[in-house]
Amino acid sequence: MEILQEEIQAHLNKKIFKLISETADEMGVACYLIGGYVRDFFLYRPSKDIDVVAVGQGIELAKAVSEKLGKKSRISVFKNFGTAQIKYKEYEIEFVGARKESYRLDSRKPIVEDGTLEDDQRRRDFTINAMAFCLNGNRYGELLDPFNGIQDLEDLVIRTPLDPDITFSDDPLRMMRAIRFASQLGFDIYPDTFDAIGRNKERISILSMERVIDELNKIILSPKPSVGFILLEKAGLLDIIFPELTALKGAETKDGVGHKDNFYHTLTVLDNIARQTDNLWLRWSALLHDIAKPVTKRWDPRLGWTFHNHNYIGEKMVPKIFRRMKLPQNEKMKYVQKMVSLHMRPMQLVEEEVTDSAVRRLLFDAGDDIDDLMTLCEADITSKNPEKVRRFLNNFKVVRRKLEEIEEKDRVRNFQPPVDGNEIMEIFGLPQCREIGLLKSAIKEAILEGEIPNEREAAFQFMLKKAAEMGLRLSEE
Ligand code: CTP
Repeated sequence: MEILQEEIQAHLNKKIFKLISETADEMGVACYLIGGYVRDFFLYRPSKDIDVVAVGQGIELAKAVSEKLGKKSRISVFKNFGTAQIKYKEYEIEFVGARKESYRLDSRKPIVEDGTLEDDQRRRDFTINAMAFCLNGNRYGELLDPFNGIQDLEDLVIRTPLDPDITFSDDPLRMMRAIRFASQLGFDIYPDTFDAIGRNKERISILSMERVIDELNKIILSPKPSVGFILLEKAGLLDIIFPELTALKGAETKDGVGHKDNFYHTLTVLDNIARQTDNLWLRWSALLHDIAKPVTKRWDPRLGWTFHNHNYIGEKMVPKIFRRMKLPQNEKMKYVQKMVSLHMRPMQLVEEEVTDSAVRRLLFDAGDDIDDLMTLCEADITSKNPEKVRRFLNNFKVVRRKLEEIEEKDRVRNFQPPVDGNEIMEIFGLPQCREIGLLKSAIKEAILEGEIPNEREAAFQFMLKKAAEMGLRLSEE
């Protein structure tokens, strides 16, 4: 890669870098810009996270810089870790002293010893993350790249600076990070580095689930998430962190009848949806839409392979998976459950007949998430037959049009009963009871079936008629 000094100088010609440089020179401290920020400079990815390493006094340098920045900056010092962070405008600047570290086997917490810049670079995760720009005045902008990260950037390779067994056992999160960078940046993992992930995979279990999931979510949000998942699977990590997903693997054949490999199908659906949305939870829905296929799989001599109710069983599996993975137990999880549960409905609609009442029911059940559901269903078409794909997509267009038509007419997307339960209780002088429940659901059913319009007067008359049939008498009051 041609290193353009002018570009580096132009990039570093910012007040904040100049100020750090000046301060470091005054203190006689060697200091460098390092890590992800330098990598992202070469990849033209703008970044606001700045890591600065000082040979010796990281915290002191941070304090002096913060003082010069004045009120507009805020500093936090983490004495135990020997680091300090300054928040200034949109930047987060992390200062650390150069370290030479050794790690205890069963903990991420390093035993820290002061070191040289190169000691510090050696203990970083990947060559592309170990490059540094000098910030001192006389060498301002000089690239220090002892492990040839520039070459690896050019070759699109993730590789550890040290023996990968050491780098990964020092911090097992780096195994996830290697795969995450491969998926995010479209890089390959150097074979020797990748083999070491397989050898060290069990050490993933010493990490907190939150940190693992943070990386997994970054993989899910990457442009082509299947890249990351296939690497996780090949390295043996997926089986440890997400066994429900590896259970989808394999395609069985019986009496000459096969079924698709649901693991690769799921990954194709995830890649498809990644082209349409950055919504993490919609991407999670794609990942989990068929999660119950292994547990519901049956062989029926008449029907072949069946996966009855895999959508409902899948909906029930979501909370267990979310709990174990420390994912949020809130409306985001409920949304994923809803998507998993409804993911076959639009297809069933197309396969049968797109009747108004079926469309109303779908609108009622999906509510405001109907567009996301349609996006999921379209992503779920993974047939290799282009004619079939075209036909399905066309049919979905019809469904989308019909959804709009019906919603405009009947407004059932956020259904609010036109006659409410309290009013019904008052009219018949009844408390909340079975009869009231029956009346309420009869009104809803009549609207969804199209027997009456979604309007108050029609619903009121219908309710009176239904009540009379049930033998209910109006209240005397
Ligand atoms: N680093 C490391 N080992 C880790 C985490 C980080 O060696 N487990 C080093 C790398 O040099 C990395 C730098 O610390 O570049 C900053 O880490 P971080 O901000 O977490 O990640 P970035 O590499 O900047 O990438 P991203 O912001 O995409 O997470």
